[in-house]
Amino acid sequence: MATSRSLTVTYLVHDVMADLSDPDRELVQEATSAAARAYAPYSRFHVGAALRLATGEVMSGNNQENASFPAGICAERTALHAAMSGHPQGVVTTMAIVVPSVSGDRPVSPCGICRQALLEQEHRQRSPIRLLMATSSGTIHELERSGDLLPLSFDASFLNP
Ligand code: THU
Repeated sequence: MATSRSLTVTYLVHDVMADLSDPDRELVQEATSAAARAYAPYSRFHVGAALRLATGEVMSGNNQENASFPAGICAERTALHAAMSGHPQGVVTTMAIVVPSVSGDRPVSPCGICRQALLEQEHRQRSPIRLLMATSSGTIHELERSGDLLPLSFDASFLNP
């Protein structure tokens, strides 16, 4: 016999930037600026991420590519690791992600490795990281916790049962 189980993710879609709070709008703007500083000569896919710490400090990152492709790193982890290396007790409250070159209403969401890195940080700080994914059409897709992007995930609880 088999039983069916379902996993659902609920998130908000804001119609326009003006619907965001001032701090969230600032974060999207910082992520947009960061995208312009990306080093992506191979993919030409410029990604910007900006995060806010509980202290209010805003930090950003972008993708940094390499001729040896796997050596490259995504914008989300650049921002996250920069923040946590400087602030080991830091608490990330929100991260905004922007890819200006992608048109339309479909948000670019973090890759699998970045989802795992964000999940690790949620466990480390024992609180959720909100995600704001801005699209070129102006909508902003908001997830309450980034772990929602990684259902049935692997985490430290399996290593220390
Ligand atoms: N990339 C990111 O920086 N973040 C994402 O969420 C998706 C992909 C980067 C990695 C690589 O430099 C380029 O975009 C194309 O995959």
